[in-house]
Amino acid sequence: MTAEVFGAYATPIYICDKVENFNTIQREITKSYDEVEWYSNDDWGFTHYLSQPGLEGNIVPKIKSLENTIHYHLKEYINQIGFGNSPYFLPDLKYRIARSWFAKFDKHCYAHVHNHGHADISGAYYFKVPENAGEFFVTGTVPQFDQSLLFHHLGCRNYFSTQEGTLILMPGFMNHGVRTTMIDETRCSVAFNIIFERRDVEEP
Ligand SMILES: [Fe+2]
Repeated sequence: MTAEVFGAYATPIYICDKVENFNTIQREITKSYDEVEWYSNDDWGFTHYLSQPGLEGNIVPKIKSLENTIHYHLKEYINQIGFGNSPYFLPDLKYRIARSWFAKFDKHCYAHVHNHGHADISGAYYFKVPENAGEFFVTGTVPQFDQSLLFHHLGCRNYFSTQEGTLILMPGFMNHGVRTTMIDETRCSVAFNIIFERRDVEEP
């Protein structure tokens, strides 16, 4: 007899602990970072700072080494999730890093739980990660876990440790946030949304 528990429908999160061309990316990002004008989104209350013009901006194309690295890891990610087996797979399917921005966390900043639901994939590159900075977390993609006596612990927050040079990719629908940072040094990441083309939109 065999008896096992299977973790069906696990949510695939891709984490590269430190990208290979770290030094080049850090150098290039620093140039963009030094020119940023910061603001906070009034609709959220004070959470953290975003680079102008916020979620409508796109800074990644100006940081070529980061852009190339995201393309490389996106390919790895979709290979590892087996997108080639999907009925929606097409070998020449186009996509775009459509939006991207800096997210800056000074002392007492945090990111409320949110998702990038309209994006196919959302991601972040960690530019400044001082020791003891607020940690990145995700919450369960199955809300029913939260409501369950027996399974609650399987759906609560998962924290991920990041360092400078970490790259994370995940489904846009995944809820996530950043714990309040209580240190004086700045934590900063580059967040981005990736959108794939929909062939259904085109003329037949
Ligand atoms: Fe986010």
